[in-house]
Amino acid sequence: MSSIILGIETSCDDTAAAVLIDGKLHANVVAQQLEHESHGGVIPELASRAHVQRIIPVVEEALSQANIDKKQLTAIAYTQGPGLLGSLLVGNAFAKSLALALELPLIAVHHMHAHLLVHFIDDAFPTPSFPFLGLTVSGGHTQLVRVDDTNSFVIFGETKDDAVGEAFDKTGKMLGLPYPAGPVLDKLAKMGTPRFSFGKPEVEGLNFSFSGLKTSVLYFLRKQEEQDKEFINKNLHDLCASIQHDIVSILIDKVTKAIDQTGLNQLVLGGGVSANSGLRESLSNLDVSLFLPPLPYTTDNAAMIAITGYLKFKAGLTDSLASESKARMNS
Ligand code: KG4
Ligand code: ZN
Repeated sequence: MSSIILGIETSCDDTAAAVLIDGKLHANVVAQQLEHESHGGVIPELASRAHVQRIIPVVEEALSQANIDKKQLTAIAYTQGPGLLGSLLVGNAFAKSLALALELPLIAVHHMHAHLLVHFIDDAFPTPSFPFLGLTVSGGHTQLVRVDDTNSFVIFGETKDDAVGEAFDKTGKMLGLPYPAGPVLDKLAKMGTPRFSFGKPEVEGLNFSFSGLKTSVLYFLRKQEEQDKEFINKNLHDLCASIQHDIVSILIDKVTKAIDQTGLNQLVLGGGVSANSGLRESLSNLDVSLFLPPLPYTTDNAAMIAITGYLKFKAGLTDSLASESKARMNS
């Protein structure tokens, strides 16, 4: 019998639903919330309200694209956390209600696991085998993990302060770029030369730190602007290239160390920042089998929730209707 999984993702500012039939993706709908752009960052209250407005049309659209009636569904997978609590609660309440009404199993999915397990969607792209080294780089997280199984993630290192996506967004904001600045900074960096340097943090083990770089960029810009008010405009491309170069080299240093220390020979990337062209290029020079997600699967989406739900479902891992949203989650 076919297993038809509905995946629902509402952890931050994207309302998303996907339908996966026997591991193959049949619909992947994402409604991005543009209302945050003018605020320079995600406003949690606005995000939850927008999820409430969009969740039903987004799910209906996904079912219609997959040509599936909700009565044909086998299970409902939703993002349990980590993320913004108000946003998570919308997906949780919707998924539970649907599971209750249709008498279907509910599967609670860890958002960061899903960013890596998206690579298991059938036919979409090459699939790694367990165990592998995972690098998750998003707006809220930066982690190096060993993935032994669908449900077994061991964190080797993580950021001690800002996430790498925040480093892109906050330094981009200093340059006057719109939110989220990461993709714009990436584009502008391609036209520049990394001729400025903002230093490298000293962080123990496989952990990361990005707040020092952010402060260093801030003081550097202040100093330069005292002498020339137009400094940013005149050097925008080189500034973007330099910031991107320094952020990527912080990541590459720790990834190289992790490959050496663990002996794992497959590196799997996930999360919004895995769209970054500089990071993708630098990682491709490492001596490891590299699994990069295609661009539509880098930023938040429900396909990754549906595939993780499918893998958990096949392993007999379902959750009760009492399962709760969690803003913070460990491995
Ligand atoms: O995974 P994601 O969609 O949401 C979270 O779970 O946080 O990641 C969003 C982050 C934002 O910080 C955004 O600026 C960053 O991913 N991002 C990029 C690029 N595309 C998205 N950062 C650098 N270069 C990109 N091309
Ligand atoms: Zn994410």
